[in-house]
Order: sequence, then C-alpha cells, then structure tokens
Amino acid sequence: MTKVIMNGYLGQMGQIITSLVDKRSDMEIVAGIDIAQSHSAALFPTFSNIADCDMPADVIIDFSIADVVSQIADYSAKKNIPAVICTTGLSDAVKQKIKEASEKTAIFYSANMSIGINLVANMLKRMSKLLFDEGFDIEILEKHHNRKVDAPSGTALLLADTVKDAVGEDLSYMYNRSLKSEKRGRNEIGIHSVRAGTIVGYHSVIFSGRDETIELNHEAFSKEVFAAGAIKAAKFLKGKSAGLYDMQDIMDEL
Ligand SMILES: NC(=O)c1ccc[n+]([C@@H]2O[C@H](COP(=O)([O-])OP(=O)(O)OC[C@H]3O[C@@H](n4cnc5c(N)ncnc54)[C@H](O)[C@@H]3O)[C@@H](O)[C@H]2O)c1
Repeated sequence: MTKVIMNGYLGQMGQIITSLVDKRSDMEIVAGIDIAQSHSAALFPTFSNIADCDMPADVIIDFSIADVVSQIADYSAKKNIPAVICTTGLSDAVKQKIKEASEKTAIFYSANMSIGINLVANMLKRMSKLLFDEGFDIEILEKHHNRKVDAPSGTALLLADTVKDAVGEDLSYMYNRSLKSEKRGRNEIGIHSVRAGTIVGYHSVIFSGRDETIELNHEAFSKEVFAAGAIKAAKFLKGKSAGLYDMQDIMDEL
C-alpha cells in the first residue's frame, strides 16, 4: 500500500488524483493539504499547512502553487518522505531548493506528467540535431484554454529546452514576431501560444525544411493524463534512494 499526502487536494488536479486513488487498492491518501480546506468533507485528515501534518506516508504528491513548493521540498527532506512535484511556473530559486532537497530524499519533478509528452521529448532528442543540421527550421505551437494565465506553457518551454540541448548550439527563443520586422534567424526557435475555449493542452513541434515538413503533435483531452502520470510517479518513487528523478527515469523502466 502506497500512502500519499496530497498537497493542493482541493484543486482541480488534487480532486482528480483523489478520485483516481479512491478506485485503487494499492494506494491511499492519508492526508490532504490545502490552504482552502475549511469547507472540506474529505474522508482523510486535512490540514491547511503541510507543517502541521505528522501523518506517516510513503510519498507526497504536489499540485498547488509555485510559492509553496520550497516548503514542500524542505518538508520532504526533513521528514525523508519522497515528493512528486507537479506544480509549474517555478523560479530558479525554487528549482535550486528542489535540487538541495533531492540530496537528502527522492524528489520527482516534471513540468508535464503525461507519458505521451515525455515520449515526444524523447523522440525530439533523437530528431532535433539531425534535422537542424539538415537546415530545417524548428517552431513550437501550443494551445490552451482561455483561463490559462502563463504563456508560453511550461511544456512548450520543456520541449524547446529539449530541442536546444539536443542541437547543442546557442538557440534563442522568439515569442513575438511582431516586435521585429525582419527575417527569421537561423538560430531561433519560434514559440507561439493560442488561448481559446476549453482546450486542455495541445503541443506541436514543427520541423520545416526545403519542400518538406515534419510535425510532432500531442493533444491531451483531459487532465486525467497528468493525474495518471503523477500516480505512476508516486508508485515509482516509493522506496527510491535520494536523487532527482523525472519522467525519463520512468520511461527507461518501461
Ligand atoms: N506537471 C503537470 O503535468 C501539470 C499538469 C496539470 C497542472 N499542473 C500544475 O499544477 C498546479 C495546480 O494545478 P490545478 O489545475 O490543480 O490548480 P488549482 O488552482 O485548481 O489548484 C491549486 C490548489 O492549491 C491550493 N493551494 C494554494 N496555496 C496552497 C498552500 N499554501 N498549501 C496547500 N495548497 C495550496 C489551492 O487552494 C488550490 O486548491 C499548477 O501549477 C498547474 O500548472 C501541472
């Protein structure tokens, strides 16, 4: 039985995780943390601050807000409870905190918990250098619902960083072509955001060369794909030694 502390349990992702875990016999939520917990009718103990939670657990799953992630990393290291951190929009300082905590306990972080997107990232590692060297231009298009406040998406940046690392050259990101009235630079990756309706998440990496184009597209139709990935990560992390893990580590085991 994997015992989970769910941070942000009243949020959209926290609620999906709670209902998915409820249907499983190999996992249970032993505590829920949420700053908005006052109207909760949860079947597990709840706290508004993780510092007040002393429940024994195998893993923490966090889908909350960026400001609280440092505290989760500290708690995880202090209590030696591995953490699956899924919250996005983290600053470099918070990422550094996660790194420090991962020297004491197992921490899993991925800006996108879907197996599909991580498979796309894996394929990009193989394709990007070859196609860039062949003269292909690389652009990324992402589409999300009209309530999303950040742009581009964390996943678009994750894909762009993957391309950049694979190409191994100093590529720059171009977010807004209207700012410059000039031809596209060879060493740039254009990143474009659409915000409309209820689109859950669409990402496309476009490789376009002379007279041919390859597009690698991924579309999430519900947030359950991220919840399922987080649950998979929690199972993976239980009992792991200290270190920083991500979806590629899970995929290496598949
Ligand atoms: N990595 C991924 O694949 C992935 C997928 C979906 C969402 N996300 C990210 O997860 C985060 C949450 O997404 P969501 O859609 O559930 O958002 P949400 O706004 O629905 O839920 C966030 C929850 O966190 C709670 N919260 C705020 N401050 C808190 C604190 N100090 N302690 C505990 N809980 C606190 C809020 O009350 C809320 O219930 C966002 O950063 C989102 O971008 C990541």
